[in-house]
Amino acid sequence: MPQRYAVPYSPIGSRLDESDVAAVREVMLSEATLSQGLVRERFEAAFAEHIGVRHALSVTSGTVALELAIHLLDLVPGDEVITTPQTYQATIQPLLDRDVRVRFADVDPTTANIDPERVAELVTPRTRAIIIVHYGGLPADMDTLLRVARDHDLILVEDAAHALGSVLHGHRPGGIGHIGCFSFHSSKNITTLGEGGMITTDRDDWAERLRRIRGNEADMVLTPRRGGFAKSSGPPPGALYPGEAYTHDCLRFRRAGTNATLSEAAAAVGLVQLGKLPKLVARRQAIAARLMTELAEFDTVRVPVVPTGVEHAFHLFTFSVDPLCIDRDELVRCLAAEGVETYLRYFPLHLLPEWRARGHDYGECPAAERSWFLEHMNLPCHPRLSDTQVELLATALNCALTKVTRR
Ligand SMILES: Cc1ncc(COP(=O)(O)O)c(C=O)c1O
Repeated sequence: MPQRYAVPYSPIGSRLDESDVAAVREVMLSEATLSQGLVRERFEAAFAEHIGVRHALSVTSGTVALELAIHLLDLVPGDEVITTPQTYQATIQPLLDRDVRVRFADVDPTTANIDPERVAELVTPRTRAIIIVHYGGLPADMDTLLRVARDHDLILVEDAAHALGSVLHGHRPGGIGHIGCFSFHSSKNITTLGEGGMITTDRDDWAERLRRIRGNEADMVLTPRRGGFAKSSGPPPGALYPGEAYTHDCLRFRRAGTNATLSEAAAAVGLVQLGKLPKLVARRQAIAARLMTELAEFDTVRVPVVPTGVEHAFHLFTFSVDPLCIDRDELVRCLAAEGVETYLRYFPLHLLPEWRARGHDYGECPAAERSWFLEHMNLPCHPRLSDTQVELLATALNCALTKVTRR
């Protein structure tokens, strides 16, 4: 029997109301197509404008966005990719299928974001890309990361699954590096009916390639067909398919296509949700501010540091304890007894069995390891919490910390 919490972590990270239902109803009852139609185009245009990029291409999940983004890197055996251990496995899972070397750069313990200095140390002549995450919605140090990428001619991929609604000195995550990937999973800052994702980029050639792959066309380099025929003159004798579709031949094949089409109904909800984003993020920020005030009373905990010029979307509210004074696991149990559900995110990726089988091990990223095993935890911080629940949470937090702190 699952435990019922007075202050739960919600499986839905956004708020849905009649406006979302109306958008779905309109699509369903229209005579327009339910796939690859105008609503998707409008959602993508609005998203591109919001992020400040030339192209936004919707797909069926954040996982697929990352898979396709990694495909665009055109990695060859022996190439190296630098990434963070502090993320969900989807960030780098596609790399398991490739004969490439993954280098995990440890995180900055004050932000849980990848440490650019560690990244710079790991660059070799074989490095091709850096894949970063804006952990919990706090933008990573993109200025320094971009400098490292520029100095070594590397592609910088942003997993911005947590960071929709965040701002870094006037720029939006997902539009700062070379490729951005977003998730509209049920738990995220906005959702497209539970699943969905977006890829953002300024590069026209990448957008063109993505358009093909997500729509079941192969990703290939095309060349005009020798002896190709004009529509007016009709197909050559024996040709099965008339028209202009086959006036090109494949010069180089990169990968098969897939169907990653976000449905019109999902895109319609995405448009409505994008309109609500400022309010949804403001609510997350207000809850985070309340929790930070409560935590400020304790010198045995570390709260998120939000630098000036930065807006933290607080997809996650994370704080760390001083393990010499607080047993983190005891704090988790104590909060549960007070009715507060907590999560630990994320288990260091390099210690997952699949990455250990590839030679990664304990000690590789000490800050991420210490954080997971001893220090960090995530509290509920989502727009579905009522004011009463937020106050319950703050009181329970104070009470639990007072109880478990050793002096
Ligand atoms: C950091 C991060 N990247 C990628 C994903 C994958 O997104 P999706 O669940 O939409 O496939 C998630 C979450 O679910 C995530 O938290």
